[in-house]
Amino acid sequence: MPRNSPLSFPCPASPTCTPRISVSPAATGSLGAMELHVLNHPLVEHKLTVLRDKNTPSSTFRELVSELVMLEAYEATRDLSVVSVPIETPVAPMTGKKLAEPRPIIVPVLRAGLGMLDGMTRLIPTAEVGFLGMKRDEEHPTQQITYANRLPEDLSGRQCFLIDPMLATGGTLVAATHYLAERGAKDVTAINIIAAPEGIKYVEEHIDPSIDFKVVVCAVDERLNEKCYIVPGLGDAGDRLYGVI
Ligand code: URA
Repeated sequence: MPRNSPLSFPCPASPTCTPRISVSPAATGSLGAMELHVLNHPLVEHKLTVLRDKNTPSSTFRELVSELVMLEAYEATRDLSVVSVPIETPVAPMTGKKLAEPRPIIVPVLRAGLGMLDGMTRLIPTAEVGFLGMKRDEEHPTQQITYANRLPEDLSGRQCFLIDPMLATGGTLVAATHYLAERGAKDVTAINIIAAPEGIKYVEEHIDPSIDFKVVVCAVDERLNEKCYIVPGLGDAGDRLYGVI
């Protein structure tokens, strides 16, 4: 399939689930070299359980998202490039390590990804922040429109962190990753809180295998429902973050 041709994307969960996106895969049919990390930690499980609870108010929800992202970021940033720097402690000279240039870039996918930004920038305050807004094209429901983009033109050599709470169908993640790749990104890590197995499979099958691509999640849930919500999930992450009933 040519790189920019829209890919019809039937929801794996149900034919009545409207596909939210299509993607422009650079390669199809081959499995990408995707690495999946699922955090397995009692603190993560505890925080995730409170996050999922429908009675948890938005203020607590936002706090928990920040805390979970920081825990995920610890794993997700394990391969950040560093350089050796000479310093002097009050006791002796030594060679330490600092993050290398160019700075890593964090890209929240609007709107819900914004809720993860605070946790990421607390952990990597020197990172650059870009923004990416993607939504379904109402006239061509199988296609994706990028309605907002605040990114450097050249992402070659940059370590990119895409943040979005829910990896549901996987279409947004593939489209967003390929959008970064079109600007030269070759190293992309997605940080999601909850993933659906269908979405993971879709990403694995459609991500450009030439991208060094990793996904870090707190949990992989059971499935998608007929509306493409993750089950049991946590509902609409954007609504819960911003208090929309
Ligand atoms: N987006 C959400 O906010 N929740 C889901 O369950 C799936 C996609």
